[in-house]
Amino acid sequence: MRRKFLGGNWKMNGLKSGLTALLTAVIQQLKDLATVEVAVFPSDVYLESMGNLLKAQHSAIALGGQNHCDHEEGAYTGETAPGMLQDIGCRYVLLGHSERRHTFGESNRVIARKFALAKQHHLIPVLCVGETEMQRDIGETEAVVREQINAVVNEVGINALAKAIIAYEPVWAIGTGKIATAEAVQEMHAMIRKHLANSDHDIAQNIQIIYGGSLKPQNAKDIFVLPDVDGGLVGGASLKAEDFTALAKLLAS
Ligand code: 13P
Repeated sequence: MRRKFLGGNWKMNGLKSGLTALLTAVIQQLKDLATVEVAVFPSDVYLESMGNLLKAQHSAIALGGQNHCDHEEGAYTGETAPGMLQDIGCRYVLLGHSERRHTFGESNRVIARKFALAKQHHLIPVLCVGETEMQRDIGETEAVVREQINAVVNEVGINALAKAIIAYEPVWAIGTGKIATAEAVQEMHAMIRKHLANSDHDIAQNIQIIYGGSLKPQNAKDIFVLPDVDGGLVGGASLKAEDFTALAKLLAS
């Protein structure tokens, strides 16, 4: 039985006071929710203070980084080392988010190296994959996603995915209000699971595959009930305590 997972990717939004109020409300509203694994992904700048707040409230909500460097340490100005995320109390890290791939030009190769480092530092990678609108239009969706996954499997081996999450986030659905249809989401999640099963059946069955892209309490119901969907990765709606906690409760129901 796969555990449900809900991640709140806050991206580069908010300031300390507002984010503290947001997290305080989320902690309060989800304190009795034990069946869903919930994590928040603040900017690096606020990881420590958000982590301290979670600890002070004895919250089960986990902390994750939005990215880390593809090098261990050293002269990489402006970057964050994977060991720093671990040191500050992160359990998860997002890797290969579409904004990293498309705005910052991260290749499959770089993301695979980051994945290897995350595992070395005992972080649970949330590997984000997904096609652009153009790739979908020309029928390349499955090939693109398979390639994004293969790059990681080739680098670290299939066993490294035993403790990892895959987030299927079609690029055209992120921040656009356009959500993929339930059929398309189920088809892609099943395809990903089947693809992994070619390498290891148990890992494919046990890995959590979550959906991301314009999730809101109003549209998530049809997605969360799909057999191969194990939760969600939420951007915009994670910045509103009411919406994010409603999504968590929906997932638990
Ligand atoms: P939105 O929920 O704002 O579409 O963002 C999704 C996302 O990028 C989560 O990582």
